[in-house]
Amino acid sequence: MLTRLDLFPITARIVGDGASARLQIGGCDLTDLAAQFGTPLYLYDRATLDTAVAAYEGALSAYPGPTGITYAGKAGMNLALAQWAASHALWLDCTGQGEIAVARAAGVDRAQILVHGVNKSPEDLAAAVDAAGVIVVDNLDELQRLIALADDGVALPQLWLRLRPGVAVETHAYRQTGQSDSKFGLSSDEFLAGIRLGQAHDLPLTGLHFHQGSHFHDPAPIGPALDAVLDLLAVVRSETGWTAQHLSPGGGWGVAYHEDDLPQPSVADYVGFISNGLQGGCAKRNLPLPALHVEPGRSLVARAGVALYRVGAVKRTPNRRWLLLDGGMSDNIRPALYGARYSALPVVQPGRSASGSAWLGGPYCESGDVLIQDLPMADVTPGELVAVPASGAYHIAMSSNYNGSLRPAVLWLDQGEAHLIQRRETVADLMRRDLPLP
Ligand code: LLP
Repeated sequence: MLTRLDLFPITARIVGDGASARLQIGGCDLTDLAAQFGTPLYLYDRATLDTAVAAYEGALSAYPGPTGITYAGKAGMNLALAQWAASHALWLDCTGQGEIAVARAAGVDRAQILVHGVNKSPEDLAAAVDAAGVIVVDNLDELQRLIALADDGVALPQLWLRLRPGVAVETHAYRQTGQSDSKFGLSSDEFLAGIRLGQAHDLPLTGLHFHQGSHFHDPAPIGPALDAVLDLLAVVRSETGWTAQHLSPGGGWGVAYHEDDLPQPSVADYVGFISNGLQGGCAKRNLPLPALHVEPGRSLVARAGVALYRVGAVKRTPNRRWLLLDGGMSDNIRPALYGARYSALPVVQPGRSASGSAWLGGPYCESGDVLIQDLPMADVTPGELVAVPASGAYHIAMSSNYNGSLRPAVLWLDQGEAHLIQRRETVADLMRRDLPLP
């Protein structure tokens, strides 16, 4: 059972012996936190977040040119996480006006706000022009809109063009983005046309971006994508004289969600693959080395997050033992959407051996509301707490109010102290936007 601890934040400990053994994270006792803040409850461990940044910084230090780390805020964005990103001088990738507003409220430096979006609304584009340091342009229609703004005298931030490299990474189909039929980015021909347009209108075009997909464990497909990118850059340079000052191969490095995924995928291997490939590829084509940007979301925040649930009922059906939790698909849609596999530990006596398989179901009116299927699990009884590791990315960010559920509270755990960074939703929040019939 205890290999599961390696899925949890780096500060996860079992304190006490025998019947009083309990799971502790960030120096905080999870039983106490649940009593004080209720469940479902999401926890972020600061030490784990900081260590993840350090892994990227360390891996990038071998690159001979300038480098940058952009936190992909789509993985999880709130005021505190944006402030944390700023405290590490991370850039912040914002999708649209909502995330831009959070980044601004958190005091993120304008130069470090980077805006993505596959079909940015006029409001998104206006917010980006107003507040961002970089807009990553997805398509030529968007570029035309930016040209219209520039022609009206609006000063534009730096523009990077997003290329569709024609190669995706190995992951769930819903998370692949680099393939030639993907809705994201420009083809090579469109990229060249975009550079010519930009030059004709004197746009601040400074970079190339591509992203092949999310949650992959094998960096190999980045190789052919980098080759395609650098071949294109060589053509663009010879035809237009333009060179990319900034190059971003996006994010997408995977994490371990289940004990079968351990050991944790190595950030050093992933970044090393990109850094070496880029240096070798540029040297081979006699291209200047661009600044290298990486754009991780999940691999910065997933492991730092833990979801804490209370078991309300235990039910036996002919072939299953059900542990029915007080949260599920409304705070974590990933099992229902991608078939994602998770693991869990009881909070009290986490080292107990399994008494057989369990299905951890949520409370919602949906048979697909099952967080974990067929997991070896101790004999957990109603009223007990279970902790689900690797819950820091794309849970709260994708959460809903299905069945009138209330989004959980979120805590920041740091050296034995727990701070509320997002309060639990209330029933009043549910009706905040509603108006009565006339
Ligand atoms: N950059 C771009 C342009 C992206 O589209 C994404 C993720 C990232 C960076 C960060 O990828 P990460 O390092 O977090 O894997 N909801 C899915 C993941 C969707 C990813 C969307 N884009 C999930 O829960 O697995």
